[in-house]
Amino acid sequence: MLNVPHDYYELRDMIVFDNVGKTYTVGGQTTVALQNIHLDVRRGEIFGIIGHSGAGKSTLVRLINLLERPGCGSISVDGQRTELMRGSELRRLRRRIGMVFQHFNLLHSHTVTQNVAFPLQLTGELKRAEINDRVAELLQRVGLSDFARKYPSQLSGGQKQRVGIARALANRPAILLCDEATSALDPQTTHSVLKLLAEINQELGLTIVLITHEMDVVRRVCHRVSVLDAGQVVETGPVEEVFLHPRHAATQALVREAEHEDGTIPDYDGTGARYRLTFIGATTHQPLLGELARRFDVDYQILAGRVGTIRETSYAQLSVGLVGAGVSGAIAHLRALGVRAEALTDITAQEKVLAHAA
Ligand SMILES: Nc1ncnc2c1ncn2[C@@H]1O[C@H](COP(=O)(O)OP(=O)(O)OP(=O)(O)O)[C@@H](O)[C@H]1O
Ligand SMILES: [Mg+2]
Repeated sequence: MLNVPHDYYELRDMIVFDNVGKTYTVGGQTTVALQNIHLDVRRGEIFGIIGHSGAGKSTLVRLINLLERPGCGSISVDGQRTELMRGSELRRLRRRIGMVFQHFNLLHSHTVTQNVAFPLQLTGELKRAEINDRVAELLQRVGLSDFARKYPSQLSGGQKQRVGIARALANRPAILLCDEATSALDPQTTHSVLKLLAEINQELGLTIVLITHEMDVVRRVCHRVSVLDAGQVVETGPVEEVFLHPRHAATQALVREAEHEDGTIPDYDGTGARYRLTFIGATTHQPLLGELARRFDVDYQILAGRVGTIRETSYAQLSVGLVGAGVSGAIAHLRALGVRAEALTDITAQEKVLAHAA
């Protein structure tokens, strides 16, 4: 079992894409699905890949277990180059990689137990009693011990996905690939399935690659994320950074979709300075703005804001107008406390440049 905090990683990356490209040619028509992809997924992390429909997410994930082969570039998994693998070597690689699908892909004429036992029977290494024990352990792991004899048609979507996860874990893979694993589920069920994935990651040390078009999914469980747009990686970083300080126009659009409001800052006709303040972790629990107003004799007006959690950590991001002689002292004070304070004029100028470049 790998039991390390998530800011520590082993030196060797788990999955590396080096300048990978993939095109499809159908009926003389060529589609560039991916180009110039550089990625490194670290051992033991939950790595998100987010993008709109058609961005190339499924193609990317299918390259990892060689359901597709890259057109150019190289891919390595656990230190081994994969693009030339064939036969038994390829089968061994695929056993190290479990996969969970959006529409579950269960065998409908098989019970829950039979579905989970299926990959173990294919491998043919365990005796029947050992398979039964392993299946019981897996069903307990995903909270479905009481459903062993049911058929998929008797299960809810969330339960079906739990069967899918148990099946994917059967051969003790090192990597779990999830392609839109929660996209067919309602918000509450999504939450419980993501919680299960986070537990599996923590307890088994499994590396998880999670494909999604929803920023909320990334925010809840991922450690790092890459944003795919039109077949290219346009942004990669820790989720805290990408979610709270999105740089590329495509990332900004994905973040806005996850907000309840449209996130635009109302026109501010005050004479003061506009800042975006980002509180994360401990600073979200302190009454800093009121203290600031008194101590530095500044008035503040909240122009826009969002609060929530990233994995288990709370954040608050407020755009404020500040008025008074003590503004620069107040900003320096906040920064000394670990609050990120960015002048909004700089941000909007920067965003305009990036949006233009995109
Ligand atoms: N087997 C294929 N043959 C031809 N074109 C394909 C094939 N698979 C994908 N494509 C094309 O490659 C591009 C990327 O598709 P991909 O399925 O990877 O996107 P995606 O990000 O997973 O989209 P979605 O969110 O809708 O699942 C699209 O333009 C798609 O039409
Ligand atoms: Mg897809």
